[in-house]
Amino acid sequence: MKGVGERAVRVLGIETSCDETGVAVFDSRHGVLAQALHTQVDLHAVYGGVVPELASRDHIRLLPVLVRQTLREAGLGVVGLNAVAYTAGPGLAGALLVGASVAEAMALAAGLPALPVHHLEGHLLSPLLSDDPPAFPFIALLVSGGHTQLMQVADVGDYRLLGETLDDAAGEAFDKTAKILGLGYPGGPQLAGLAACGKAGRFRLPRPMLHSGDLDFSFSGLKTAVLNVVSSPDWRPEYRADLAADFQQAVVEVLSAKAMAALERGKMRSLVVAGGVGANRALRAGLDAAAVRLGARVHYPASELCTDNGVMIAFAGAQRLMRGERPPADPAIRVRPRWPLGELSRPVPMGG
Ligand code: KG4
Ligand code: ZN
Repeated sequence: MKGVGERAVRVLGIETSCDETGVAVFDSRHGVLAQALHTQVDLHAVYGGVVPELASRDHIRLLPVLVRQTLREAGLGVVGLNAVAYTAGPGLAGALLVGASVAEAMALAAGLPALPVHHLEGHLLSPLLSDDPPAFPFIALLVSGGHTQLMQVADVGDYRLLGETLDDAAGEAFDKTAKILGLGYPGGPQLAGLAACGKAGRFRLPRPMLHSGDLDFSFSGLKTAVLNVVSSPDWRPEYRADLAADFQQAVVEVLSAKAMAALERGKMRSLVVAGGVGANRALRAGLDAAAVRLGARVHYPASELCTDNGVMIAFAGAQRLMRGERPPADPAIRVRPRWPLGELSRPVPMGG
């Protein structure tokens, strides 16, 4: 990547914050050398959502296997690495502890730095891995299962929160609405699939906070509006696809309008979209169309990097390492299940 220090680095990245076990090796000269990803979707599907204890146990079962497999594919032993990066938060406490323990132990044994990475920083830097990466500064729209935020990004670690959801995250709204419509877990992609078979316009759903004058969001009322529609005496099951399309369109309209307002306020021309909901095709089409009208450009991560993965953690760790960041000397295992992204700072080398 341009504008980054000269030293080439090779970082192992470990992601275990929720229901994906992700491992990757990123090399700053050669890109991704190897990666492995296991999703626990089948494990949690019968319960209709993620069961934290089962998630932790499955990470314990698979993480050592995937680390070995990834290093073998990269043709490396731990000695070929410069650091081990892992998701330290936000996420499920037990799941995070599995990744943190393995990463800290490997790093200690091999005499390498262990780098705790913020999960959302991983997401928002992942479009920099594309062939045509955005230049700093840019606006980032983070839309995942747990977060909906607009950030102003001046550099790695220099993030200013512009607005966020006051209640449900966009992904959470997709998941809850999918449940109301009788779809399985994870609801987002299934609801998007159903919406593609329907036509928006039959139902009048609200556009929450569209004209609030700030950059905050609210999605829980939208989900309730969907619940009211399916509970009404006029409801017919054959309307499901149309209702899904109307819900999706309401979310897309609000996200697009606020993202464009953030670009205009910051006089910026680049928008980066990250997080699982960033995979949504209608959202991409809505954002692209709105950005064209502003003369701006939208950057997305490759679709396989939209949802949780080890590559983004290895990449974020490498960016911090190349900027001289060193971990604290004590190899304590710490995770932060709640961790506001705005609390991050630019990488600062230890000892001056
Ligand atoms: O970033 P992510 O993989 O995990 C978190 O850090 O939360 O995001 C997962 C969220 C889930 O709520 C999922 O339903 C949603 O992203 N999602 C989608 C789509 N693919 C994933 N929502 C709408 N449309 C999609 N195509
Ligand atoms: Zn995520």
